[in-house]
Amino acid sequence: MRVGVLTGGGDCPGLNAVIRAVVRRGVQEYGFEFVGFRDGWKGPLEGLTMPLNVDTVRGILPRGGTILGSSRTNPIKVDGGVEQIKKNMADLGLSALIAIGGEDTLGVATALTDVGFPVVGVPKTIDNDLSGTDYTFGFDTAVTIATEAMDRLHTTAESHHRILICEVMGRHAGWIALHSGMAAGANVILIPEIPFDLDQVVGWVNSRFETNYAPIICVAEGALPRDGELMTKNAPLDAFGHVQLAGIGEWLAKSLEERTGHEARTTVLGHIQRGGTPTAFDRVLATRFGLKAIELVKDGAWGTMVGLQGTDIVRVPLGVATGTLKTVPISRYEEATSFFG
Ligand code: F6P
Repeated sequence: MRVGVLTGGGDCPGLNAVIRAVVRRGVQEYGFEFVGFRDGWKGPLEGLTMPLNVDTVRGILPRGGTILGSSRTNPIKVDGGVEQIKKNMADLGLSALIAIGGEDTLGVATALTDVGFPVVGVPKTIDNDLSGTDYTFGFDTAVTIATEAMDRLHTTAESHHRILICEVMGRHAGWIALHSGMAAGANVILIPEIPFDLDQVVGWVNSRFETNYAPIICVAEGALPRDGELMTKNAPLDAFGHVQLAGIGEWLAKSLEERTGHEARTTVLGHIQRGGTPTAFDRVLATRFGLKAIELVKDGAWGTMVGLQGTDIVRVPLGVATGTLKTVPISRYEEATSFFG
């Protein structure tokens, strides 16, 4: 069997570990051949390929990013896009496609399966907001990077008696903020799921200064004040209709300076959270996802994806991943609030 593989959407540490596991097991155990599609859905749409075999996946386990490249191309939005993918797959002699991606990439995979494409999914996102899996790889790496950044912010905040704000990724879900904020002992954590009350944040900040500590605030890029709006960049929407978020950290610094009289600075971690080598946890999770994904292909389990449930790697319908976003439950946020102020 010949199998196509693509990585779509925002890149994420661990993608290469998935690709390596898919190819190694696919070649060694099942005698499959592979074709790498370049740059997400752009690859199958435009017939952009690269060789994918045991040699080309050597040494990639610890490498961040994706050897296949990625993009936010949405083939469903392209006139005749689905037909074009069908033709290109047939021309390449492919009888299966593994799509490694987040909400958007797997949304396209689901739509293609609905019209009869032989697709299997692997969930990926640093945001950890896909349903059907307890964790996605990339998340642990992003949390580790953000935690280390806040550990560093603590010492400079204390030296200067300043409020330091760390803005982390997370458009609709505050998992990175919640976990890194808890791990780093942040004074306040603000997440998109729970619009915040600025007066309450001012209270927490002041009480931290009273104990001679300097406050660290961990804010997700998608967090917003009560009665306020999502802060966005004046930039075009991407092919999946997403706005670019920016500004909540700066807004918070300005508001807190005005309200508390203390100096405030913001650090926006941005794509540093997505780059570089995956943690050991992410390498293992990504490898286990890859091993299971190729087993799904062997079984012809089209329209399914792999997921982590407890410590087991399981098979889940693709639609589950994209149906409802997995956001932070209030109970999880409440655990963190014990340490606020
Ligand atoms: O979905 C992953 C993610 O890193 C989000 O956390 C973030 O909002 C978005 O991608 C950024 O996208 P881009 O790299 O296209 O700016």
